[in-house]
Amino acid sequence: MKIIDNLKDGYQILKENNISSYKIDCEILMSQTLDISREEVLLNLEKEIKKKEREIYFNLINRRKKNEPIAYITNNKCFWRDKFITNKNVLIPRPDSEHLVEQTLRIIKKNQTKRILDVGVGSGCLSISILKERPYCKCDAIDLSINALKLAKINANLHQFSDRIKFYKTDVDNFYNDKYDLVISNPPYINKHKIKYLDSIIYEPKIALDGGLDGLEVIKKVISKSKNLLKINGKLVLEIGYDQKYKVTKFLKEKNFFINKIIKDYGNKTRCIVSTKIN
Ligand SMILES: C[S@@+](CC[C@H](N)C(=O)[O-])C[C@H]1O[C@@H](n2cnc3c(N)ncnc32)[C@H](O)[C@@H]1O
Repeated sequence: MKIIDNLKDGYQILKENNISSYKIDCEILMSQTLDISREEVLLNLEKEIKKKEREIYFNLINRRKKNEPIAYITNNKCFWRDKFITNKNVLIPRPDSEHLVEQTLRIIKKNQTKRILDVGVGSGCLSISILKERPYCKCDAIDLSINALKLAKINANLHQFSDRIKFYKTDVDNFYNDKYDLVISNPPYINKHKIKYLDSIIYEPKIALDGGLDGLEVIKKVISKSKNLLKINGKLVLEIGYDQKYKVTKFLKEKNFFINKIIKDYGNKTRCIVSTKIN
């Protein structure tokens, strides 16, 4: 049977299961099955595939029809300028978090040597993307989850950064080290009670999403701790939930941070705050 016919059967199944991205998903899953790029799939629509390949493809389609994210099925996700390995132990890198990378790169000039701390490293997508663009910087990365750290190390090796990132398994609350020029963090910030309504909770780790009763528990820990971990004039670049701007800026000011910038995402929702430790 031809690629095009298998794609059409896949479209039908995913469409019936309300997967709005059914077209691109089928093409990605076909490219995963045949181990070729999506472009090659589209250039070879009339090519016949083997029975075994059809079986593999429909196994993947059946996973996707149950709403399993594509990034977990293919085990990778593009973020910033690279591909990162993903699995169920880490949050899937989000395009929204690219704002944090962009803001950090605006702070650090190309030839500067800075020490960065990444709190809640997950897959490693933030630190690795930043280190790639800033060749003289080094990063310490912490996470509570040993399995997330294992994957972040794999990604760091893959991108050949293992000598520029050090990993620590710890709660941010218990982390003591030298002073950093920058702290970056995309902490869990979803209100505990709202988590059950998220589609992704079936697949993504709760530890990466759960921000406690008010959604601000880990954010507050990161801010309080950054007060000790940052040098004077050091910068804190924080991703937050769209409805947390007022509470987070108030808390930052209480902790003597100066608010430099509040960044909105492409959907015009608050996404990221850049602040400076002033004393
Ligand atoms: C929202 S995910 C972000 C992952 C990655 N940085 C990204 O942007 O895709 C938050 C990460 O913080 C970790 N984490 C949660 N609570 C933590 C804590 N108290 N101390 C350190 N890491 C924590 C989770 O295990 C998870 O990997």
